[in-house]
Amino acid sequence: MAEKPWDGRFSEKTDKSVEAFTSSIAYDRRLYPYDIAGSIAHCRMLAKVGVITDEESVQLVEGLGTIKRELDRGDFTFDDSLEDIHMHIEARLLQVAGKVAQKLHTARSRNDQVALDVRMYLRDETRRTIDLLQTLRAVLVDLAEDHRDVVMPGYTHTQRAQPVLFAHHMMAYYEMFNRDQARFSDCLDRIDVMPLGAAALAGTTYPIDRVYAAQLLDFPRVSTNSMDAVADRDFAMEFLAAASICMVHLSRLSEEFVLWSTSEFGFITLSDAFATGSSIMPQKKNPDIPEIVRGKTGRVFGSLMALLTLMKSLPMAYNRDMQEDKEPLFDAVDTLEACLQINIQMIPRITVNRETLRKAASVGFLNATDMADYLVNQGMPFRKAHACVGSAVAHALNKGKELDQLSLDELKQFSPLIKADIFDHLTLEHMIDRRRSLGGTATENVARAIADARKALADETHA
Ligand code: ARG
Repeated sequence: MAEKPWDGRFSEKTDKSVEAFTSSIAYDRRLYPYDIAGSIAHCRMLAKVGVITDEESVQLVEGLGTIKRELDRGDFTFDDSLEDIHMHIEARLLQVAGKVAQKLHTARSRNDQVALDVRMYLRDETRRTIDLLQTLRAVLVDLAEDHRDVVMPGYTHTQRAQPVLFAHHMMAYYEMFNRDQARFSDCLDRIDVMPLGAAALAGTTYPIDRVYAAQLLDFPRVSTNSMDAVADRDFAMEFLAAASICMVHLSRLSEEFVLWSTSEFGFITLSDAFATGSSIMPQKKNPDIPEIVRGKTGRVFGSLMALLTLMKSLPMAYNRDMQEDKEPLFDAVDTLEACLQINIQMIPRITVNRETLRKAASVGFLNATDMADYLVNQGMPFRKAHACVGSAVAHALNKGKELDQLSLDELKQFSPLIKADIFDHLTLEHMIDRRRSLGGTATENVARAIADARKALADETHA
């Protein structure tokens, strides 16, 4: 069994059950590229300030490179007795580079080391998430653009309310994912701070150059309080909060895809390649992808709750509890990325059933507000117009007709202000295109929103 780097004061060997209980290697091994990059920068910095010689630094960096290649190849033995990825790499360095390896941990603690690793890992993953959100936004803009003229019922309370463009509905999700992306960018700014050099909690007596190490690792800033540097996990909580909100949006979109693909709605058809069947009912085609995305949302919320609860009563500075930050964080990162990826694949293959959507928008008095607006334009106060159209709706319901299927004479019973031109006001196109208020569903507004989105996406890729 390997000797432990911390067992100088111990007279008994660690119990096997303790090793198994305290070990994090099963999951923190994924931090190895960051741990090695951090150690290489640390060696270079130690050599620069003269704490180790240039030759020692070269030997350490070479050894770390060898270990990186072993880990990349999967040619590395893990062992619970070595607790975590940090100790595994250091122990292996002793075998690969010899005694010089004992100098690597000068002016450093696992507390600032793990904070560095998690920040570097999350910085990469946040950038990947931002890229995925960008692609998802582009996919939604494409879907909107390809269905510019499709009219559908807009809903409130899951009841048909007023007609909207399908593209307007999709661009609403574009806005949500746009904000999500902004949240991740904002969060990235606070992730991108280098904690190395805080050592255990109080800083170090060695003349280290933290800014130099930060440059080597491409961090624009270093942490300014050593205790905060090792105790802070806000950056991870913030990521998980942004991830949770993003999952809310994905889940709402998924819910609509599930509803819309039912025979009851029939608004969309998922491609066969992105649906699954039933093992007992031969006729079934199930929307498992959106269902699973909806289902996975809870895991991400769970990770946020786990981290908030983990941190809420911890005294300063580092506590071993904090080792429990990794599994929820990794799980949320993997889950969010998988959900974004699959939507990016699935959405372009959705068939939008234009006729069904149009028919649905034509039935259920979605033009009642427009009839009231017509009366208001003839001088009637809105509340009165509302009541007047309400009576007309009741009458039409009785007759089993829509408002625009009533005759002019029938309509005139409800108000003498109603003229023959009323019927123009009750068409889907008219209803859509008169909603020109800023942000409304009028065709020209939606076309502008699509163009603006395209421009924003293009500017981001060129930036
Ligand atoms: N595996 C530990 C973690 O993830 C690394 C830091 C250990 N520090 C310590 N003082 N035992 O938090």
